[in-house]
Amino acid sequence: MVNIAVLVSGGGTNLQALIDSEKRGEIPHGKITLVVASNKEAYALERAKNAGIETAVVRRKDYSTPEEHDEALVSVLKDHQIDMVILAGYLSILGPKFIAAYPDRIINIHPSLIPSFCGKGFYGLKVHEAALEKGVKVTGATVHLVNEIPDGGKILFQKAVEIQDGDTPEILQRRVMEQAEWILLPKAAALISEQLDKEEDR
Ligand code: GRF
Repeated sequence: MVNIAVLVSGGGTNLQALIDSEKRGEIPHGKITLVVASNKEAYALERAKNAGIETAVVRRKDYSTPEEHDEALVSVLKDHQIDMVILAGYLSILGPKFIAAYPDRIINIHPSLIPSFCGKGFYGLKVHEAALEKGVKVTGATVHLVNEIPDGGKILFQKAVEIQDGDTPEILQRRVMEQAEWILLPKAAALISEQLDKEEDR
């Protein structure tokens, strides 16, 4: 069984999708055993507590350098015997130390069809604002492995979502979450946890 940590910063709807999917038996090789938030206000922490999952808060501002923040994060995960990491609406930057601690074992959900509307500065509503600004007819979500390039790792899954007349960034964000993010992230969690479970022949 692969121990999964989910890193969060906001409302935690992607975390909730993972929790519900695990409950439905759709992630047979993985178990979410820890939720780490980048701030103590994240509603995602409530969702974790309601699901009986252990939580931690690791805030970048509590550390003087990005490296110390990375080290603190890695030690919390290692203390909990975490095998793989899922970034679900996580907004802090992860440095090379963190990436190196979990090579090809970190997945992230991005709310566009990478390589469109991704990279530095593209997160949350900003992604949907840019898509509407550009006037694309189709957007969607991408789940990818995390490496040192923001939104640059190997793409695992993508799902297209139609943009409709009158869409605001908020309406579009909700549709992309419902029709793509909340489907793809559990699918990727199941795939990678199965690969890791087989690899380590647990
Ligand atoms: C959403 O914009 C999602 O696309 C991105 O993070 C934001 C918040 O997600 N991944 P969540 O509700 O906190 O999971």
